Amino acid sequence: MARIIAIANQKGGVGKTTTAINLGASLAVAEARVLVVDMDPQGNATSGVGVEDREERATIYDVLVEGVPLEEATVKGLHFPHLDFVPSSQDLVGAEIELVGAESREGVLRRHLAPARDRYDYVLVDCPPSLGLLTLNTLVAADSVLIPIQCEFYALEGLSQLLNTIRLVQRELNPGLEIEGVLLTMYDRRLNLSRQVADEAREYFGGRVFQAMIPRNVRLAEAPSFGQPIVHYDVLSAGAQSYLALARELAAQGGTGGAEGSGGPAPGEKAEAAAKAASDGGGR
Ligand SMILES: Nc1ncnc2c1ncn2[C@@H]1O[C@H](COP(=O)(O)OP(=O)(O)OP(=O)(O)O)[C@@H](O)[C@H]1O
Ligand SMILES: [Mg+2]
Repeated sequence: MARIIAIANQKGGVGKTTTAINLGASLAVAEARVLVVDMDPQGNATSGVGVEDREERATIYDVLVEGVPLEEATVKGLHFPHLDFVPSSQDLVGAEIELVGAESREGVLRRHLAPARDRYDYVLVDCPPSLGLLTLNTLVAADSVLIPIQCEFYALEGLSQLLNTIRLVQRELNPGLEIEGVLLTMYDRRLNLSRQVADEAREYFGGRVFQAMIPRNVRLAEAPSFGQPIVHYDVLSAGAQSYLALARELAAQGGTGGAEGSGGPAPGEKAEAAAKAASDGGGR
């Protein structure tokens, strides 16, 4: 039974796509059956894994808007036998509008992903940098949310908005939605700032911050231009090793949501704390 994980943060450039591709590939290397879905009209994950001739392929747009079965839009065995992928296309920009009239328009992805639950161990969905209908569809379809946070100034700013959206979805549309964890990305241990962001994140999210941290690593930034996941491009790089560590941690967590399992505070309490932190101006 697949665990569906939304990789979301409405802030741009925090490492959502890098995480979707490389966590997906790292899990697949460990022989978990993985599906990565690109829900971003920018299509960065699609080009980053080297899926080409997008015009000729069925994409997630065709699935959501035209009702094409998910399997028809799935590229199988991409780089690794256990890694499947559903590409995106620019048409997806229009999906936000085209879905407005659809019946329960925020549940469209959930309906299409239902048959995939039996075929995969993990479904990772790369969200666009907004809290619009595409992200909403993903949160409604998901069992949990993985939130990448870039270790930079203002890292926690805007998180209260995301956490409020998650709470709203929990209340109205998907009561089972958990916070899978907060992932610190582009961490530079030489910088005080990185350490400060890590400390603040741990203060607000406690055990929900993954032990694995993703360092700033040039090989991670290079890999997408070769259309390759990092474990393929340079498995010995610090970037690859950190995503492999994250995959191990996630697998060990086994769907309890939060690195401390069910022992940690409820997502709602965490959301309160983070929202308060952001409104106190502590967002960094
Ligand atoms: N750990 C890292 N080290 C170095 N560069 C990184 C790292 N993670 C991501 N990058 C680079 O930073 C940029 C933004 O990363 P990415 O595309 O994963 O973010 P995103 O949150 O998906 O962005 P968007 O919000 O636009 O979808 C990319 O150029 C990527 O290659
Ligand atoms: Mg992205």
